[in-house]
Amino acid sequence: MRLLVTGGAGFIGSNFVHHVVARTDHHVTVLDKLTYAGNLASLTGLPEHRVEFVHGDIADATLVDELFSRTDAVVHYAAESHNDNSLNDPSPFLNTNIVGTYTLLEAARRHDVRFHHISTDEVYGDLELDDPNRFTEHTPYNPSSPYSSTKAGSDLLVRAWVRSFGVRATISNCSNNYGPYQHVEKFIPRQITNVIRGIRPKLYGAGLNVRDWIHADDHSSAVLTILEKGEIGQTYLIGADGEKNNKDVVELILTLMGQDPTAYDHVTDRAGHDLRYAIDSTRLRTELGWQPTYRDFEAGLAATIEWYRQNEAWWGPSKDATEAFYAGKGQ
Ligand code: NAD
Ligand code: DAU
Repeated sequence: MRLLVTGGAGFIGSNFVHHVVARTDHHVTVLDKLTYAGNLASLTGLPEHRVEFVHGDIADATLVDELFSRTDAVVHYAAESHNDNSLNDPSPFLNTNIVGTYTLLEAARRHDVRFHHISTDEVYGDLELDDPNRFTEHTPYNPSSPYSSTKAGSDLLVRAWVRSFGVRATISNCSNNYGPYQHVEKFIPRQITNVIRGIRPKLYGAGLNVRDWIHADDHSSAVLTILEKGEIGQTYLIGADGEKNNKDVVELILTLMGQDPTAYDHVTDRAGHDLRYAIDSTRLRTELGWQPTYRDFEAGLAATIEWYRQNEAWWGPSKDATEAFYAGKGQ
């Protein structure tokens, strides 16, 4: 199969490219704009005859049309992905997440290409800490931020293109990923690299917000499962029962790195900060037989810390600019 992966130089997209090359015979073309979040170094070590890189924008209709004319299936990861950036300037989120997805869907329609859309649990809004329910495929959409509202909009476009035009698409909504190659703007790598650099970790507000952590390798195996066995038109939630509050995660990072677990700062909270995400992935597990392999968060986090210790050449060039951005916001 000829597979096109958009956003394949980002955190999760590059993980998927490595996963597919190791487990299938598919040929992969990566389409990536190489924004501040894209890094070709995340794709090193892949065989040249299996992976082609195309530098470009998913909103470039001419380029997208040419690529879809020689593609059997598309997995669409490309997005502006960071909530804090979306609060600062929503415009690239509209262009990439909405117009970009629309551009891809139109090409999928013209060329009858199988399409898998990568989305987020944030489209469902947030839950109370004591709510016994978790998000399911039937939870109503209720996004909070410019980021999550553009992801919700892109999901709705996919659903409409399935129903109105017969595009052969599936959607997955996953919870918070962690693992190697994640940009230092995100919570876990920011705190790990802060400790490495001698900066105190920064916790938004009281730190009681809960995220449902899943290792990026498990996200990739779930996406490949949906691509191979998913039912056209369906949505699948991806999660690994990894709920933790931010305070506990910061304290665990400090402990695993041999520091005083209380040596962090409380900083200005995020505007509109979602309280809790939690995924019920029963459909994916029972209908498609998927299971996560990382069941020990502490072990996965320790391995991630070790990766950041060994790979400062990968993350170092982004660190100062990222911290300058946060400092300007009191974070
Ligand atoms: P990321 O920011 O690390 O990577 C995004 C990639 O998309 C980068 O390589 C960037 O260069 C590329 N890109 C951005 N705009 C583009 C454009 N206009 N044209 C082509 N390429 C473009 O993001 P990530 O964390 O790897 O997230 C990937 C996808 O997974 C996103 O759709 C995100 O919404 C979704 N998601 C992320 C998480 C998470 O925890 N990180 C969880 C659930 C879903
Ligand atoms: O739920 C899936 C989503 O997870 C994805 O759709 C997004 O692309 C991804 O960025 C992530 O969104 P979050 O906003 O949950 O992730 P972030 O890493 O930015 O923050 C995680 C939590 O940590 C959140 O409650 C905010 C908090 N935080 C974040 C940073 C950067 C801090 O307390 N301190 C920080 O320095």
